[in-house]
Amino acid sequence: MVQSCFNEEYRPQFHFTPQNNWMNDPNGLVYHDGVYHIFYQYNPNGNTWGYMSWGHAISTDLVHWKHLQIALECEVDSNGNVIEMFFSGSAVVDVNNTSGFAVSIGKDGTGKDVFSQPMVAIYTSCYPTAHTTSNGQVIRQGQQSQSIAFSNDNGLTWTKYNGNPIIPSPPVEYADQYKQFRDPFVFWHTPSLKWIMVASLAIKQILLIYSSNNLKDWTLESQFGPHNARFGEWECPSLFPLYLDDNTAAEKWVILIGINPGGVIVGSGTQSIIGSFDGKSFVADPSDVYDPAELPFGSTVFQDFESTSSTFEELGWTATGDFAGTGPQKGSIVNAGKVQGYLGNGIMTTCLFGNGGTGTIMSPKFIIRKDYISFLIAGGYYPYNPATAGTSEDNQVSINLVVEGEIVHSQTGTNTESLVWRSWNVAGWVGQEAYLAINDFNTSQSAHLHIDEIVFSDCPKDEANWNDFGPDYYAAATYNGLPTSERTVIGWMNNWAYANNIPTSTWRSAMSIPRTLALKTINNKIRLVQQPVSSLSTLYTSTLYSHNFSSLECGETKVSVPAPFNSSMKVALKFTRGGGTKFGVILCSNETNTQKTVIGYDFLGQNIFVDRFKSGNSSFVESERNTFPGYFIATMPTKPTDEIEISILLDWSSVEVFGGQGQVALTSQIFPLEHSATQVKLFSEGGSTRSVSVSINGINSVWK
Ligand code: FRU
Repeated sequence: MVQSCFNEEYRPQFHFTPQNNWMNDPNGLVYHDGVYHIFYQYNPNGNTWGYMSWGHAISTDLVHWKHLQIALECEVDSNGNVIEMFFSGSAVVDVNNTSGFAVSIGKDGTGKDVFSQPMVAIYTSCYPTAHTTSNGQVIRQGQQSQSIAFSNDNGLTWTKYNGNPIIPSPPVEYADQYKQFRDPFVFWHTPSLKWIMVASLAIKQILLIYSSNNLKDWTLESQFGPHNARFGEWECPSLFPLYLDDNTAAEKWVILIGINPGGVIVGSGTQSIIGSFDGKSFVADPSDVYDPAELPFGSTVFQDFESTSSTFEELGWTATGDFAGTGPQKGSIVNAGKVQGYLGNGIMTTCLFGNGGTGTIMSPKFIIRKDYISFLIAGGYYPYNPATAGTSEDNQVSINLVVEGEIVHSQTGTNTESLVWRSWNVAGWVGQEAYLAINDFNTSQSAHLHIDEIVFSDCPKDEANWNDFGPDYYAAATYNGLPTSERTVIGWMNNWAYANNIPTSTWRSAMSIPRTLALKTINNKIRLVQQPVSSLSTLYTSTLYSHNFSSLECGETKVSVPAPFNSSMKVALKFTRGGGTKFGVILCSNETNTQKTVIGYDFLGQNIFVDRFKSGNSSFVESERNTFPGYFIATMPTKPTDEIEISILLDWSSVEVFGGQGQVALTSQIFPLEHSATQVKLFSEGGSTRSVSVSINGINSVWK
C-alpha cells in the first residue's frame, strides 16, 4: 500500500487519521507506561465501512501519532465470507493479572519470575453468519456478543481468548436484542475492587452495567435508560468519575452516550448525564434528567394545537398555499401514526397530501415577554438558508421566529419522526413584536415538519445535555489509565448521516482533538466542560496576528495572516457587546465571500454559531436529502460577565469551536473548494463590538 505523505487535499494536519482507508469510532483508549494507545474501527480493505477491525496507533503526547499494525483483524473464511468483525470496545491494563493472561518475561535478582502486565481489549464480536465456535458456542446470524483478547507486548500483537464470547447474549428479558448488544466500556473500579462494564442495548436505549473479578466472568448489576435523547440507537457508552469544581472531595460520575440517528443536528450526536455510581448502579442527578412531558419552568402555553376541529384561521393563525383551510391534526393519525412524543392529542403538521404540500403556517403576532421560546419538533432536515430564501431553490422545512421582518431564529427537523424539545433564547428581543412562520417549501417525500407545544418560558427546555452542538462529534470514548483530573476524551469527527460520502481519499474520517474533561458549576448548573489537551499548544507557532480593538466598527476587517499556516490555525477571540448584534470571524473565505465558514456570537440570540452553508464542497450527499449544509448554534448566555470568549481550531477540513470555559463545543467538518479561499476576516454586524481582542497562531503539522 502507498505510504501517505499526509498532505493530500483535506488531510487533517493535527488531527489523527489513518494512513489509508475507512475509520470510525475510537476504541480501546488506554494510557500505559507513558504511552497513549488509540485503537479505532478500521476497514483494512477500503474507504467505506466494512470488514471492521481494530487499527492501532500510539503517542506520547496525544498529538503526534505513530501508526502500528492492525491489532485485531476481521476474520474471513476460505470463501471470503466474514466470520467475525471487531466492533467497538475498550482496553485496560490488567496490572494485577486478574485475568491470568500474564506471562513470565524473565527473572528478577532472586530468580523469581517477572510477569507481564497484560493489555486486555473488551470488544463486540459481530458475527454476520451463523456458526458454532471452536469452543462449541452456537452463534446466530447477526449476533453481537462481548469478547476479549489480550496482548503481552503492549498492544502490538493480540490473542483472542479461547472462551469467547464471554457475554454471548443479553439477559433473558432482552433475549430478542441479540443483534443490538454492543460497545463494552470497561474500567477498574477501585472502591469495589472490580472491573465494571457498561454496554448498550442499542435500539432499546438501555445501558447494561456488569461487574467482574477476572474480565472473563461477568455479573449483571443494573441497567440505565432510556433517558433524555432517546429516539435513535444508543451506542458507545462511557462511564467515569470527575471532580466537581476541582474539589477532589466532590466526585461525581458521568455517562457519555452516542445516539444515532437523533443527534442534535441530524444523524449522530453525543449526550452526557451526570450522576453517581456505587459500583453497581448509575443514578442520574434528577436535575439532569429531562421529562419530555413536563413543560419548561415558568411556562405560558402559546399554542398546543389541541383544537383539532378548528382551522388555523379559527385559531387566529394564517395558513397559505396547500395549508389554507387546514388546522391542527390528531397526533395519532399523522403520518400513519408514526409520530411519537407529542403532548395531548393534537399537533401541527405539514405532512398532508402525501407530504407534497407546501406553504406557510403563521402565528398571530405576539410581544416577546420571556427569555425563551420552546417547542416540540420532528421532521425532515431542510434548514432555512438565507442565501436561497425567496428563490426557486428555497427548500426549507423549518419553524422561524420573525422580528421586524427578519428571521432571527430557525429550526428544522432532525430527520426523525419523534418530537424533541428545542429552545431559542429570545432575551435580546424582549418587548418586541414577533411571529412564528412554519415554512414547508419542499415537495419531496419526507419533507415535512411536526410542531407541538409552543411555550414561552423563563428557562430553556432541554432535550439532553449535548456534549457538542456541531454535527461531527460521535462515539466519544475516554482514556483508561489516567488520573481523574486528566480524564481525556476523543470523538469520531464525522456523522453517519454522510460519513461514507465525505470527499476524502485515500482515507476517510478523522478523530477530534483529544479533550480534557471537567465538571464546573456555571450559572448554577453543573456543566461538563472540555478543552483541547494542553499538549496541543506545543504545535502552536509564534503569534501570527494579535490585536486589541477598543471598538471594532460595523463591517468586515481583513486580517493578514502569512502563509503557510493560514489553513491550520488557532483563533482566540474575546469581546463584549457594543451596538452590534453579531461578532465573529470568517475563515477559509475568498475575496467575495462566495466561499466562507463563519463562526461567531449572536448577542441577541445569545449563542455561538457555526455557518457552513458556503464552506465549500457540500454536494457529496444525495442532493434531495443533503444533510451537510447548515447553521449550528450552541446557546451560551453572556451572563454572568458580558465578555464572551471563543476559541477555534481550524484544520484542513474541520473547525472545532470551544465557548467560554468549554461549556459548549461545536465540531464541524468543512471541505473548502478553492485553494485560494484562505482569507481571515473579522466581522461586526448591526453595529460595533467593544473590547475585541484577537490572537491567531498557526498550528504545525504533526506529520512533518
Ligand atoms: C458506532 C458503531 C458502534 C459499532 C461500530 C461498528 O459508530 O455503530 O455501535 O460498534 O460503530 O463499526
